[in-house]
Amino acid sequence: MQLRLTRPQLNELELMRAGAYGADVRYQLPTRDAHVATLRVSDIAVPASIELLDTEATPIARVDVRESHTTSAGTWVAGEVTMLREPATAPFAEHRPSAGLPLLDHVTLSLGNDVSDRDGDLVLVDSGDAESLSRAVGAATRASREVRVLPRPAAAHLVGDDADALLTHLAEVLFASSVATRRGGGRSRGTGMVILLTGLSGSGKSTIARQLTRRLRAESHQRVTLLDGDEVRAMLSSGLGFSRADRELNVRRIGWVAAQLAAHGGIAVCAPIAPYETMRAEMRAMAEEHGRFVLVHVATPLEVCEARDRKGLYAKARAGEIKEFTGISDPYEAPADADVVVGDRDESVEDAAEAVLRAVLHAEPSYMI
Ligand code: ADX
Repeated sequence: MQLRLTRPQLNELELMRAGAYGADVRYQLPTRDAHVATLRVSDIAVPASIELLDTEATPIARVDVRESHTTSAGTWVAGEVTMLREPATAPFAEHRPSAGLPLLDHVTLSLGNDVSDRDGDLVLVDSGDAESLSRAVGAATRASREVRVLPRPAAAHLVGDDADALLTHLAEVLFASSVATRRGGGRSRGTGMVILLTGLSGSGKSTIARQLTRRLRAESHQRVTLLDGDEVRAMLSSGLGFSRADRELNVRRIGWVAAQLAAHGGIAVCAPIAPYETMRAEMRAMAEEHGRFVLVHVATPLEVCEARDRKGLYAKARAGEIKEFTGISDPYEAPADADVVVGDRDESVEDAAEAVLRAVLHAEPSYMI
C-alpha cells in the first residue's frame, strides 16, 4: 500500500524526525494525554507495511505497522518508520527543525505570523500558507532577528486552545527554553478548515449553514466564508445540470475554492447536496491538504423535506417534470463518516448550529484512546 502524504502529514513526519515527540521515530495511536506522532489512513484493511510518498509522489519512507485503530473517521496506524530518502525540500528549510540550529533562550511564538516591533527572536508557523509565512520571515530577517519555522503538525483533532498549546509545547521542545505565545494583532491564522453540510434538498442545510457562519464569525478568530449550494449554482457553476458528471464538477469546484480558503487560514462553510460518497471523499482530500475537514450530515428525513417542499420541487419531481431529483429519482448516499449528524431529531436551527459549532471548536474526538 502506498500513501501520498498531505502537507500536514509531511510536517508531522518532519517533527517526529526532529525529535519533537521524543526519541522514537514511530507513529502512535492518538491519545488524550500525550503528544505523539499520528498517521491516519482512509483504508480499513491495513497491510503490514505502508510506503509513504511525498507531494511529488516519490517514496520517502516505510511504516512497519504494529497496531491500528479504526473509527468512522478513518484508521490510525502505529509503527516504526524507516526513511528511504529525503522528502522534497520544504519552504525555509534553513529555519526549520531539521536544520539543527542552536537552541535560543527566549522566543516569541507568533500564531498569527505577523511580526511586531516588540518581538525578539521569533518562531513562525508553517501552516501551508506560503504567502503569509514568506512575508513574516522576510520582515523578521530584515530586522536581524533569529527566525525558526515550526511546521504545523497533522494533529487535526486538536483545535482552538488545544492546538495553540501543542504549538507552544513543540516550540519549547525544538527551539528555545522559554516561549511567549502571541496571537498577533489581527485575526489569528489558525489551521484552515472546510465544513461540508450534506443533505437532501429542503433538509435545512442552507439555514443551518447561515446560522453556523454567524456563530463562527462571532466565536472564532478566523475568516469565515459561506459557499451555499444554490448560490454557487447561480455563479460558479452556472450552466451545470444535475447529471452525475455535472454534480461531480459542481462539488469539485466548491471543494477547490473551499480548500483555497482553508489554505489561507480561513473557514469555508459549504452547503451543496453532495449526494455521492466519492465526491465528499474528494472534497475531504482537497481540504486535508491544507487543514481540517468536518463533515456534517443534515439528516432530515425525505418525508419531512418533501412535506415542507418550500420550492415546490418535490411535487414537480413526483410529477416527472424534474428529472434526476435527489431522493426521488436520483440517489442520495448517506455518509457513514459524518463528524456530526443534525436535523434528524426535529431540533431548532439554533440547536443544530450549536451542535456543529461544538464539534468544530471543542472537538472531543471519539477516536482518542
Ligand atoms: S449537488 O447535487 O450538485 O450537490 P446542489 O446543492 O448544487 O446539488 O443544488 C441543489 C439545489 O438545486 C436544490 O436545493 C434544488 O433547489 C435545486 N435542484 C434543481 N434540480 C435538482 C435536481 N434534479 N436534484 C436536486 N436538486 C435540484
